[in-house]
Amino acid sequence: MKKRVGILTSGGDCPGLNATIRGVAKALYARMGDNVEIVGILNGYSGLINGDYKEMSEDDFRGILTLGGTILGTKRTPFKMMRVVEDDNVDKVAAMKKTYQDAKLDCLLCLGGNGTHNTANLLSPVGLNIIGLPKTIDNDIFGTDVTFGFHTAVDIATEVIDRIHTTAGSHSRVMCIEIMGNKAGWLTLYSGIAGGADIILLPEMPYDIDRVCEAVERRAKRGSNFSIIAVAEGAMNVEEARMKRKDWMAKRAEQGFGATATNRIAQAVQKKTGMETRVCIPGHMQRGGSPSAYDRVLATQFGSYAAGLVADEHYGVTVAMVNRHVTANPLADIAGKTRGVPGDCDMLNVARAMGISLG
Ligand code: F6P
Repeated sequence: MKKRVGILTSGGDCPGLNATIRGVAKALYARMGDNVEIVGILNGYSGLINGDYKEMSEDDFRGILTLGGTILGTKRTPFKMMRVVEDDNVDKVAAMKKTYQDAKLDCLLCLGGNGTHNTANLLSPVGLNIIGLPKTIDNDIFGTDVTFGFHTAVDIATEVIDRIHTTAGSHSRVMCIEIMGNKAGWLTLYSGIAGGADIILLPEMPYDIDRVCEAVERRAKRGSNFSIIAVAEGAMNVEEARMKRKDWMAKRAEQGFGATATNRIAQAVQKKTGMETRVCIPGHMQRGGSPSAYDRVLATQFGSYAAGLVADEHYGVTVAMVNRHVTANPLADIAGKTRGVPGDCDMLNVARAMGISLG
């Protein structure tokens, strides 16, 4: 029986989105031939709400394995607003269902992170046949050991840390490198270890600035004329950790736009240790460009597995890697949860064993 399969990419982009789209499409065409039609929904859930979609052909999926970004476009459409009717008077969930029906879809593949999965889990109960695919450089989707995009971002952030080493050494400076990850520190932890950072600060482990400075001074006493601090974007200090998120965010906002954790750490380190300090923010570069070989393989594994789910009409699930096997988790089991770095994580113990300070 002929199937019409919708695909969308939602939330922040990352390397591996196109490789996953290609994985799904190639496996679907290989399996179902003329019995499959693919519909690309443009700019994520925004396209689904507004009826922006296009018919795709096999040609559209050629030559995109190595391409960064997403050929479908993406947008952040916050989950918390999905049930809220705004000034435009649009019931977003009803509008998404209407587009799905108008496009005569049999199922919809949603490639995205936590927000995308939360919305996917809203659409399933209203009758849409959904399959999720776990994308994010943050690696924080519950129920999967890894998400596509993460390892490429680790490679990019590691290269940043590598390059910063030589300039830090030349100038005898402390370099604070801000790595993406607001709520989850996986990217900072992995790239920090891969790049040989001396201090790694994660959102899950509030830091004490005195301990950070002690670690810098300890290194200086042992003859190292520089230090590298890998700071997750969402790192917070012990005082902030005791406050409500909205309160410390308001406090930072009062201090001005530049009062990020990284800037404040750099200032405090310079003041307390007397060592010249600089900040480096690779920012969205961590999400740009071609996926690594690891992510191409993962994207292809996930994409081809999703094609099998379509063929088997196994819906209401998201693809996952569990103990090195690709599988599917019910959307309802993973929505609303995130996977931060747990205190007993093996990789934290590796960092500790290496004498890396965690603040
Ligand atoms: O979720 C991925 C991510 O890159 C986070 O690490 C980061 O905090 C956020 O997106 C940045 O979002 P935006 O692209 O909207 O600036």
